Amino acid sequence: MNKILKKAFFSSNVVYFEVEAPLIAQARKAGHFVLVKVGTNGERIPLTIAASDTTKGSISLVVQRVGVSSAKLCALNEGDYITDLVGPLGKATHIEKYGTVLCAGGGVGVAPLLPIVEAMKKAGNKVITILAARSKELVILEEQMEANSDEVIIMTDDGTYGKKGIITAGIEEVLLRERVDMCVTVGPAVMMKYVALLTKQYNVPTMASLNTIMVDGTGMCGACRVTVGGKTKFVCVDGPEFDAHQVDFDEMQMRLGSYKEIEQKAMNQYLT
Ligand code: FES
Repeated sequence: MNKILKKAFFSSNVVYFEVEAPLIAQARKAGHFVLVKVGTNGERIPLTIAASDTTKGSISLVVQRVGVSSAKLCALNEGDYITDLVGPLGKATHIEKYGTVLCAGGGVGVAPLLPIVEAMKKAGNKVITILAARSKELVILEEQMEANSDEVIIMTDDGTYGKKGIITAGIEEVLLRERVDMCVTVGPAVMMKYVALLTKQYNVPTMASLNTIMVDGTGMCGACRVTVGGKTKFVCVDGPEFDAHQVDFDEMQMRLGSYKEIEQKAMNQYLT
């Protein structure tokens, strides 16, 4: 049982939690994630650790309310307990001094991108961060990104904040302007697919952090499998980061949508 120390709303559907987890806070590195369960028979949700505080013994998680399980988690308040929290899981991000690193995050993918931005900056890279959202109220962690980046570019679909346009427009603007040695992208599968297609044209090595369905988180169940370079990989133990130019994003998207109808039914039941 892990106590919720702080809860804040980034938007009506995106919640920030600071959760007591001293051992995970000490052990975690950029790229690591946890599996969270609400209720004894609850579904397990993978969430990347956005930040940690070893003095307080806490980790920060950002949750988007998309289905019943995330809705149950978002309904918890400060002082409540999360039934199960397991981690840190996955492989840590490979951090080195590449030169110029372009970090591109969309939606709540910006949360897992934050520790990567921090680590890339700490390693001595020039970090250009692009944050993309549908509109102004969905742009998150801007201040924290500013503190760890040489430049932050905001893109909104409707133009209510930053520049109007999708993430690839912001990326291409940078790629046309200067040399980029590494790109890291986190966000919806379709977004990462198009980021990868674009950076491939410019021969920029690209890492994508994948967020698939997960059950055990230890490489046993196969729920998180993806195809990378024609081979089956498990996101929970082989990832979550992979060479974006090798990931079969269409297959990943199809697998992510397999339970849509059941999820919708469950959500309707939960709301009634
Ligand atoms: Fe079961 Fe990855 S979550 S194999």
